[in-house]
Amino acid sequence: MPWRKMINDWRLWINPQATARPSFAIKIMIMRAYHLEDTGAVKKLILQQHPIQEPGPTEVLVRMHAVSLNRRDTYILNGVYPLPSVPGVIPVSDGAGEVVAVGEAVQRFTIGDHVAGSYFARWVDGPFSRELGRYQLGCTLPGMLTEYALLEEESLVHVPPHLSWEEAATLPCAGLTAWSALTGGGPVTPGQTVLTIGTGGVALFALQFAKMLGAKVIAITSCPEKAARLIELGADDVINRHTIPNWPPAVRALTNGQGIDHIIETGGADTIEQSLQVAALNANVALVSVLGIQKKMIEIDPIILAGNLVTMRRLFVGHRTGLEDMIRAIAVHLLHPVIDRVFPFEEAAQAYEYFATGRLMGKVVIKI
Ligand SMILES: NC(=O)c1ccc[n+]([C@@H]2O[C@H](COP(=O)([O-])OP(=O)(O)OC[C@H]3O[C@@H](n4cnc5c(N)ncnc54)[C@H](OP(=O)(O)O)[C@@H]3O)[C@@H](O)[C@H]2O)c1
Repeated sequence: MPWRKMINDWRLWINPQATARPSFAIKIMIMRAYHLEDTGAVKKLILQQHPIQEPGPTEVLVRMHAVSLNRRDTYILNGVYPLPSVPGVIPVSDGAGEVVAVGEAVQRFTIGDHVAGSYFARWVDGPFSRELGRYQLGCTLPGMLTEYALLEEESLVHVPPHLSWEEAATLPCAGLTAWSALTGGGPVTPGQTVLTIGTGGVALFALQFAKMLGAKVIAITSCPEKAARLIELGADDVINRHTIPNWPPAVRALTNGQGIDHIIETGGADTIEQSLQVAALNANVALVSVLGIQKKMIEIDPIILAGNLVTMRRLFVGHRTGLEDMIRAIAVHLLHPVIDRVFPFEEAAQAYEYFATGRLMGKVVIKI
């Protein structure tokens, strides 16, 4: 079995004179993992030690190298995520690492492969269901903030070879959400216009993918430094919502009055009415977020909807097949995700706190 072979190889590498002493193998196979002992504060994130488990027949053992944080990880930490997490769960859905052992029935992976987890661990393809939604890494299933993760092979994908571990760790939630928003409904075609809102992970991936798909991108942000970076990343036009709070006429003017074909709505209740004001006649609006920071209710003037054939589509991240499609596209275009800051494993709590400030541009990563 590869697992036993791996332990033996390690023992012989450490001590070529080693004889068969199982207790020695167990001693060196200890890992550290964070557990969410309770919700409500980063101090509930407790680092614990465990023996590393042996993979079952369809399981893969991954030596984790990096994880990235998403808004949902802070919701889980604060106990406000709609799906209650398992007490003591290893948190964080997104991470990348190297396969170090596989069960005897594993078909898709081999030792040495570079992999990332898929957010909805059992959603391989097809329509979403409530049942599939119950299996989420870092919530109802053990997550990635650990030195070794044991995962079912169906919940893993290969990552593009040109990416660093930190970059690969950003793909499963923010990356796939942006990809599903742009390709999952009426897909973006070259020459169409895309609106992105803000500089969070989803909006930045949406900008990069939209350019890759040949679209014109108009981005909304709140600060001039971020505007300059958005232009560097390929945005065709950027509007500062602080200097132009009533931004819909300015956006429409940039489209010669035609409006935006695809809106990646990450502002939720705060921005949905403005987004609909800039929507082209047959626009697609991907409702990535419905919750606002300032507004608690979605309020839309019916006059804005009355004369428009807009399609609004809610989405939940995406399935593994979508993740694999996205990864192929990233590999072909040698795209690099935008990382704001990397924290060491021992400073996971500080990474959560930094992420919660919201004063970032791109992904917050924890290196393991
Ligand atoms: N449905 C799904 O499957 C799914 C998946 C992932 C995320 N989400 C949700 O999508 C949202 C975005 O997540 P994220 O992690 O990419 O980003 P994020 O970290 O939540 O960033 C939000 C950004 O939006 C901008 N912003 C804040 N208030 C705004 C307002 N009133 N008007 C316009 N822009 C505003 C800010 O950018 P500037 O500083 O540049 O202005 C801010 O940095 C979150 O609500 C998250 O929960 C949903």
